[in-house]
Amino acid sequence: SVIKPLHRTRFHFQPRRNWINDPNGPMYFKGIYHLFYQYNPKGAVWGNIVWAHSISRDLINWKPLKPAIYPSKPFDINGCWSGSATVLPGDKPVILYTGIDPQNRQVQNYAIPANLSDPYLTEWIKPDNNPIVDPGPGVNASAFRDPTTAWLSKSGHWKTVIGSKRKKRGMAYLYRSRDFVKWTKAKHPLHSAANTGMWECPDFYPVPLRGKLGLDPSVTGNWVKHVFKVSLDLTRYEYYTVGKYFPKKDKYVPDNTSVDGWSGLRYDYGNFYASKSFYDPLKKRRVLWGWANESDSAQDDVSKGWAGIQLIPRTVWLDHNQRQLKQWPVKELNTLRGKKVVLSHQKLLKGHTVEVKGITAAQADVEVMFSFSSLDKADPFDPRWVDAQAACDQLGNSQGGVGPFGLLTLASENLDEFTPVFFRIFKAHHKHVVLMCSDARSSSLKEEGLYKPAFAGYVDIDLSRKKLSLRSLIDHSVVESFGGGGKTCITSRVYPTKGVFDDAHLHVFNNGTEAITVEYLRAWSMKSARMN
Ligand code: FRU
Repeated sequence: SVIKPLHRTRFHFQPRRNWINDPNGPMYFKGIYHLFYQYNPKGAVWGNIVWAHSISRDLINWKPLKPAIYPSKPFDINGCWSGSATVLPGDKPVILYTGIDPQNRQVQNYAIPANLSDPYLTEWIKPDNNPIVDPGPGVNASAFRDPTTAWLSKSGHWKTVIGSKRKKRGMAYLYRSRDFVKWTKAKHPLHSAANTGMWECPDFYPVPLRGKLGLDPSVTGNWVKHVFKVSLDLTRYEYYTVGKYFPKKDKYVPDNTSVDGWSGLRYDYGNFYASKSFYDPLKKRRVLWGWANESDSAQDDVSKGWAGIQLIPRTVWLDHNQRQLKQWPVKELNTLRGKKVVLSHQKLLKGHTVEVKGITAAQADVEVMFSFSSLDKADPFDPRWVDAQAACDQLGNSQGGVGPFGLLTLASENLDEFTPVFFRIFKAHHKHVVLMCSDARSSSLKEEGLYKPAFAGYVDIDLSRKKLSLRSLIDHSVVESFGGGGKTCITSRVYPTKGVFDDAHLHVFNNGTEAITVEYLRAWSMKSARMN
């Protein structure tokens, strides 16, 4: 019999083997989506970093090409680190990326396709006038990296942002250029924030005030807001703010409903890092890619021969409240949906669990709509739970008033392993608070080497219709969940020992005193993607 590699994902992006990290330079070009990513060709730990390259027509099935950018010149001899693609007028892609030079300084380089009539863009040239930006005086040369997609201003200048820090201050340095080759540092950064440390992988883009359409990065106007995102290497979390970009002053100012720093808004409250978005002109949407590292020991990564996945690309848009984004898996994912099972109007009394049978529970897509008739039984909210994860840590899926209710994913037959994804609703002053958790503590009987946090986030949602939705993408060692139609997202990497392949189970549960109704639940077995 064939040995099926345990915990390997089947529809999340992965190369055949080895270490991966950040998604780089995603773009659409002449009918094809390109994804580059940080890759170690020599093993399952970080190192020897090149830009691996894959192409797709649907963002789900991928064909590998040879690495596009790899160390070969003094300006990148010690590594080809993260960066972005910009498609210049005339359909001419350019990559900006960070090279590590012989002195281990971080410098910015550009690369261009060798042959623009090759739709696969297989071959890339790194011109000899690189680097085009070096750290310069006053800039920390070991913290100066990850250039963004550039945008074009009315004055005819291209702008890009480079992540950095000055002492403990996170910095988004702004650079301007007319020809994309000669870049000048602006006097003031686009944005910065005290005590946030190094800003890795900044991203900056406009979103319309209303609707789901994505926008080209150069769009400005009073009908848009801007989103600014950074990855914080100190905590391995990302946060974003929603705000206003003033193109003349080249300043970004977060709205007063958005905060910089640890307590800011996150794309994902779980394992999701170094993300990058791009504008897809074909479907007129903004698509977000994020990386999920393993939550297992490096030793286990080496023995399984691979580490890291890219999460399912998500469409992002501004919520109608204009304070936060919403995210949803790109609709092409639905092409992998196979066998479907449905529950409807299923009442869940306190302590009830219903198994969802008939699908491959280790490789599934599940959508549920929950409803309840009253919030009277909601437990009081403890104001000390500023941090959602602390609340989830303390409460888990133990009995409550309204909730916990949700899914038990990747469950073993006798329920000694499972990853619960659920909501709990609390009563605070004049409002209700919705907590969403993806609790990996019970995900595996294995103890050693695993990182099993109780990830959690709050869901800022209107409960007046007494409904709450949840979607989870389950793929062997990842559970990627979208609460409240994409208002709060949480990803966990988990390594069940018994709840694997055909021995994995899926349940819907309610452990609150208030009865919950599953208005509908639709679950699909997911086919494997053609993956590299
Ligand atoms: C983020 C990061 C980037 C850097 C790259 C190196 O995960 O540290 O800042 O460019 O990875 O692989």
